[in-house]
Amino acid sequence: MKSSASPHGRARPDRAGILVVSFGTSVPEARRAIDNLVDSAKEAFPEAQVRLAFTSNIIRRKIAREQNVGIPTPAEALARMQDEGITRVCVMPTHIIPGEEYDDIRSVVDAFASIRGKYGFRRIALGSPYLHSVPDCDRMAEILAARFGRRLEDEGTAIVLMGHGTPTHSANAMYCQLQLALDRIADGRFFIGTVEAAPTIEDVVRGLKKHPSVGRLVLSPLMIVSGDHANNDMAGPDDDSWLHRLRREGYENVEPHLVGLGEDPRMAEVFVERIREMLL
Ligand code: CO
Repeated sequence: MKSSASPHGRARPDRAGILVVSFGTSVPEARRAIDNLVDSAKEAFPEAQVRLAFTSNIIRRKIAREQNVGIPTPAEALARMQDEGITRVCVMPTHIIPGEEYDDIRSVVDAFASIRGKYGFRRIALGSPYLHSVPDCDRMAEILAARFGRRLEDEGTAIVLMGHGTPTHSANAMYCQLQLALDRIADGRFFIGTVEAAPTIEDVVRGLKKHPSVGRLVLSPLMIVSGDHANNDMAGPDDDSWLHRLRREGYENVEPHLVGLGEDPRMAEVFVERIREMLL
């Protein structure tokens, strides 16, 4: 009788895996934000094997050298998970926008999806980043309004957020979509800029000047981790950090809030929801 099982034994049992994919960070305290998302996935899906990969080779090599911590690339992690007997895998990025990094992750997922036979997965799916659609931006705006709710009670306080940005990818437009969503629910209270692209810090300042009632600023990363960009480009001691540029523009009361979005339980909730949708 013909059987669907492999000729050399029984078919492998179904085993679920979740691969969390982050850019990575070399700042040890910033790891909390990534670990929070990983732990949330572990807690929500105890039956699944949860693993972590970093996309940044520079960061992977730096932490291997300096901290003796070995984090695989997405391709390495998937190959190992397949070898361990995981048959269904959800790849979940921690990224904010679907930019170049996301395209690269997708190409790895597509490559693994094309593998047939004993080296392939039965199913492999890729989750979407936080800002993938207009409703995603509305949801993120609500999260940010709740996150900074106490600060917003003071009418003279505005929140300046530093996104990463990507100069050559259309996904950069998601920052403007998020700004629109924030303006709808909290007009003149949030100002988004990016490190690498647009809106720039100059755009932020121009926006702030249109709201003369704003006297105090909270400066915070629109990134999963509060790492190198937040500690240096945003709130660092250099003259051209956002903190110092805003001070030069006359905002003497600027308070850096150096906490990554990944530490926010609301962000973890969205993360877990997206994995759940993939597992269905
Ligand atoms: Co960067």
